[in-house]
Amino acid sequence: MSSHSDAIKFAYWVPNVSGGLVISSIEQRTGWDIDYNRKLAQIAEANGFDYALSQIRFTAGYGADNQHESVSFSHALLAATTTLKVIAAILPGPWNPALAAKQIATINHLTNGRVSVNVVSGWFRGEFAAIGELWLDHDERYRRSEEFIRALRGIWTEDSFTLKGDFYRFTNYSMKPKPIDPQPEIFQGGSSRAARDMASRVSDWYFTNGNTPEEIRKQVDDIRAKANANGHKVRVGVNAFVIARDSEQEARAVLDEIVAKANPEAVQGFADQVKNAGKASPEGEGNWAKSSFEDLVQYNDGFRSNLIGTPEQIAERILTLKDAGADLILLGFLHFQEEVEFFGKRVIPLVRELEAARDSELVAAE
Ligand SMILES: Cc1cc2nc3c(=O)[nH]c(=O)nc-3n(C[C@H](O)[C@H](O)[C@H](O)COP(=O)(O)O)c2cc1C
Repeated sequence: MSSHSDAIKFAYWVPNVSGGLVISSIEQRTGWDIDYNRKLAQIAEANGFDYALSQIRFTAGYGADNQHESVSFSHALLAATTTLKVIAAILPGPWNPALAAKQIATINHLTNGRVSVNVVSGWFRGEFAAIGELWLDHDERYRRSEEFIRALRGIWTEDSFTLKGDFYRFTNYSMKPKPIDPQPEIFQGGSSRAARDMASRVSDWYFTNGNTPEEIRKQVDDIRAKANANGHKVRVGVNAFVIARDSEQEARAVLDEIVAKANPEAVQGFADQVKNAGKASPEGEGNWAKSSFEDLVQYNDGFRSNLIGTPEQIAERILTLKDAGADLILLGFLHFQEEVEFFGKRVIPLVRELEAARDSELVAAE
């Protein structure tokens, strides 16, 4: 038995689309412009964050009226930082793997290997219609994403890459220069059966919406069993919206205000669109399949992870998520710059203390 567990990693959502991370008219002191985001990235790396995750949206909806493109924005954040890793979101369809592999390899060289990708599979049918992208059925979207990921990895690592896929074709392709180490990591988002199967075959990281430790554990058990059978290793990132305040009452009052000031029409519009995600899969399960109105006020069910309370309560709950199999927690906040700093100063040190205490218990037990 190992006497030392890996430290849990922290990522934050890059607010590169307008309107913040909740569909609510509550005050959100969060900007979506580059100046706000450069400073935020610098605050995050100085306060113990490992990763930043950018978002890709091609069109407005439910508050995100303006959306900066993810790869170019990620590069700007990398250029403004020195240690932070930035994950650029990529949507197969608008991107093809030849372009994505080349773009990311170049950014990898420009930034000492600090760029990663999040291959997203699409849930927003209205967006696909607006930009003239073919809308594929749920599981077909994942079949395409899997080929996309196989293509990225093949192009980055093989000298003469050939793929005869249903969506992409490469013949003796040698892309140079290859990425330098560390190689770009490949994340994916989604929790349907198709998403879990894809993760267990090709992805380095599986991102899932916010959820209870019990529900996370079910996903982790399924992915790990399948990944083991495939001889593949995949790590797990869980979304959470953090409301850390000096008292639990204060934190709960903020959540109540977010929900009370939610825009019901926008939340309903979002609810209609996300039925195209896991709910539309053959199994009818996945992201948003069981979300309530309150859950949907935060785009990725972040309240469900319950990181709402005092720094001590939040640190304990992070350890519980870690016990359930989370390797990384992806965080959203109301007031990003202020709260990323508060989280880094007040919560992360408590998490590290709890992790160290666990490790010494393990050593004592050996
Ligand atoms: C952490 C995370 C980040 C995501 N980022 C984006 C994004 O930037 N753009 C996008 O269109 N979809 C994004 N998605 C959506 C997923 O790629 C996927 O389409 C959706 O979760 C449906 O998954 P499921 O049907 O497999 O459960 C994200 C999902 C997660 C969990």
